[in-house]
Amino acid sequence: MIDRQLARFNRLDLLGAPTALEKLHRLSAWAGRDIYVKRDDCTPLAMGGNKLRKLEYLAADALSKGADTLVTAGAIQSNHVRQTAALAAQLGLTCVALLENPIGTDSLNYRQNGNRLLLELFDAKVELVDNLDNADEQLQALAVRLHASGRKPYIVPIGGSNALGALGYVRAGLELAQQIEHCGEQFAGVVLASGSAGTHSGLAIALAHKLPKLPVIGVTVSRSDEDQRPKVQGLAERTAELLGVRLPETFKIELWDEYFAPRYGEPNAGTLAAIRLLASQEGLLLDPVYTGKAMAGLLDGIARQRFDDGPLIFLHTGGAPALFAYPEVWNG
Ligand SMILES: Cc1ncc(COP(=O)(O)O)c(C=O)c1O
Repeated sequence: MIDRQLARFNRLDLLGAPTALEKLHRLSAWAGRDIYVKRDDCTPLAMGGNKLRKLEYLAADALSKGADTLVTAGAIQSNHVRQTAALAAQLGLTCVALLENPIGTDSLNYRQNGNRLLLELFDAKVELVDNLDNADEQLQALAVRLHASGRKPYIVPIGGSNALGALGYVRAGLELAQQIEHCGEQFAGVVLASGSAGTHSGLAIALAHKLPKLPVIGVTVSRSDEDQRPKVQGLAERTAELLGVRLPETFKIELWDEYFAPRYGEPNAGTLAAIRLLASQEGLLLDPVYTGKAMAGLLDGIARQRFDDGPLIFLHTGGAPALFAYPEVWNG
């Protein structure tokens, strides 16, 4: 049912093939628990990441509406803006992005290296703003301005996280459910970073339909459980409505909010330890803003016996280009 409903939506095939589900052998031995990784860090465009799945639907919509400009917003080191700008380049569109400096840092690496450097190469037009506290209105105002100058703008919301974008993670959840079935393991949970919530909402909808007993745990990267829960719930409701399906009774939002301190965009000691561990044990790169925090949650969850018995899946959503924006954090 959900598969058929999803197939009705216009989608650009940007991924080509499912991303791999792989066992992390050395990390599993280290942790005393089998840990698998779903490699959405390896989506095919411009150093990969989760946003390409959302953009499959959003960019298809933009093209069908005759847009010539993708308008979006995010942090200076946004992976979402990087992937949107790369896709705009691939499609022959312009990308205009509003960028904020959410940690108020003067670091030249943060302001110019990592994802920000790549925006230059993709020829994105960047406007720095003091904050994105009213991002929807700010994007709307930018679109009006671009329209007045003869462009045909299409607004991609922060993180690509509206109902249409979240369909990309409904699709990812269906893909993962098939891989889990094929693998034959009884998994004890899927762990992912929960930010603008499209990834979490979409994945949780699909898995609640296909594998209702499998816990989906969102490790928050910027908010308390109390603040993040209505975002995930609201977006899941809007996504289910767009799809024309009900949120199943089994749909459950699980959030762990102990791992994001001190705030969005600033790694803590646990984040850095998780990044170092995965790099040194597996040659796998996490990032300081999202996946380092989510992996810290997964590892602490094992140590504190927060999971039932069984192997775990980590959804790797990408972000490694941001490592080059934070070289100073390794000096301490
Ligand atoms: C690397 C990475 N992981 C996870 C996320 C969180 O995904 P979402 O914003 O859909 O919650 C993002 C969002 O920007 C990201 O860049």
